[in-house]
Amino acid sequence: MADSRAIGIFDSGLGGLTVARQIMNLCPDESIVYFGDTGRVPYGTKGVDTIKKYAAEDIRFLLGMDVKMIVAACGTVSAVAADAGRDLGVPFIEVISHSVKDAVAATRNGRIGVIATPATVKSHAHKNLTQKLMPEAAVFETAAPLLVSLAEEGLYQPDNEIARLTVAHYLSEIKDNGVDTLILGCTHFPVFEKIISEYMPGVTLIDMGVSAAKHVKDVLTKEDSRNTGEKTAHRFFVSDKPVTFEKTVKIFLGDCANNLQIDLVDVEKI
Ligand code: DGL
Repeated sequence: MADSRAIGIFDSGLGGLTVARQIMNLCPDESIVYFGDTGRVPYGTKGVDTIKKYAAEDIRFLLGMDVKMIVAACGTVSAVAADAGRDLGVPFIEVISHSVKDAVAATRNGRIGVIATPATVKSHAHKNLTQKLMPEAAVFETAAPLLVSLAEEGLYQPDNEIARLTVAHYLSEIKDNGVDTLILGCTHFPVFEKIISEYMPGVTLIDMGVSAAKHVKDVLTKEDSRNTGEKTAHRFFVSDKPVTFEKTVKIFLGDCANNLQIDLVDVEKI
């Protein structure tokens, strides 16, 4: 049966908009409710218990918005707090497993790199799953927390010297290891795609948003819950509006950023 309710998407901040953008492109008839926890970002340098608490609050807020599906558009939550998505009564989509499947399908030499947040790297979520699907794979992981701050600050233009140096700093070891495929294991990182491609020419970059969006579409089709009626406007909620917020949102969302309605919400109080 068709379902006109929105898809709920959340992240620690604006990075999850890279996932929202892919879902909007692939499922243009669907409405989105997005929550970015801009007041508490970053998650990736925090302890597992704190990340789980935040994830549970983010999910509770979205369920209160009567969504038909929840997407954890956050590698960190997907890696260490996916349990928060159990028994919600609506499908819960994480971003790691689909990206790993795509990376395994893409690699030719079995050498795969992962850049992600410290919490995600510590969990070895991408590595463990990759080696389950492809036991002979060699996986090289690096935590790149500064890239999250640069992305939230809007410092990711291809000619930005700080962004270029930071990318080189974090990726030099992975590059030396001869990977042919690199998973952007944090949803903030696709904004650095151009800089990363220039630093690692010929390497296939896996954007978790692209992988997850295909899965979202499959689940909606399988569950017969696509929206076939009128579409309501996308809604965006954040827990804080940093000074550069509006500008940054537009860059993250690209063409999908028209007529944005952005509201503040305190998910701890809900
Ligand atoms: N965008 C998030 C991720 O995919 C988290 C970044 C952070 O909050 O540290 O991991």
